[in-house]
Amino acid sequence: MEEFKENTQLKVPVHVSIIMDGNGRWAKLRGKERVFGHSNGVESVRACVEAAVENGVRYLSLFAFSEENWGRPAEEVNTLMGLMFKAIANEIEALKKQRVRFRVLGDFSRLDPSLVEAIRAAEASTVPSSGEEPVLDLIVFLSYSGKWDILQAAKRLAADFMSDPSGLEKVTTAEFASRLVTAGIPDPDLIIRTSGESRISNYLLWQAAYSEFLFVDTLWPDFRKNDFRLALEEYSKRDRRYGKVK
Ligand code: FPP
Repeated sequence: MEEFKENTQLKVPVHVSIIMDGNGRWAKLRGKERVFGHSNGVESVRACVEAAVENGVRYLSLFAFSEENWGRPAEEVNTLMGLMFKAIANEIEALKKQRVRFRVLGDFSRLDPSLVEAIRAAEASTVPSSGEEPVLDLIVFLSYSGKWDILQAAKRLAADFMSDPSGLEKVTTAEFASRLVTAGIPDPDLIIRTSGESRISNYLLWQAAYSEFLFVDTLWPDFRKNDFRLALEEYSKRDRRYGKVK
């Protein structure tokens, strides 16, 4: 594996987002059940949180479960939800110590109420005291899809303008974005997808308008600190012009 050069001056992205893919294949390669890949994937989550903190990334978001993932066998869905429960119970103290703010975004109407309760409690417990800034915002997208997000924002917008539809004329992209579940979170600068797949899979469709993409072959359970740092190094080399001329 390529070595990360410790002294390289990095242009650090504010928001790194990861489509964690390849857990099932990782497990299959070892003759194990898919769940084995998912539980090892939690280790990679921990490693990337630490790497994000160490490298000064301010927001780390992770695509943990898509709207489409509800179509997986019930056993796998239950395992993944169970892993979320366990991860919350096991990791929240470590997150607090690192001054990481934990947030979960997605369509909660499909989640088990007891999981929603655990998520809300975990989120509340990592909100910094007033005047304090978290070191990192860790955002987990659960039961999420980009189209769902845009649709729920459109519905909220319509409801807000019910009494005066003529006001819709003046709505800006910023006002629309303030109704997405990611309101207040800067758009991802870098989106990484593991496991050799090169697609966005209904993830942050609106928010990814000017993100840099990095597709790596590494399967998610193998993606650790060094891979995260190498991704930052690759991002550093990108020339972002936002459609303009430099
Ligand atoms: C994709 O691999 C991975 C997922 C659908 C789940 C990701 C979840 C975790 C890593 C664990 C929980 C997360 C947190 C934040 C605690 P895949 O199953 O689609 O792999 P495959 O393409 O090889 O089948």
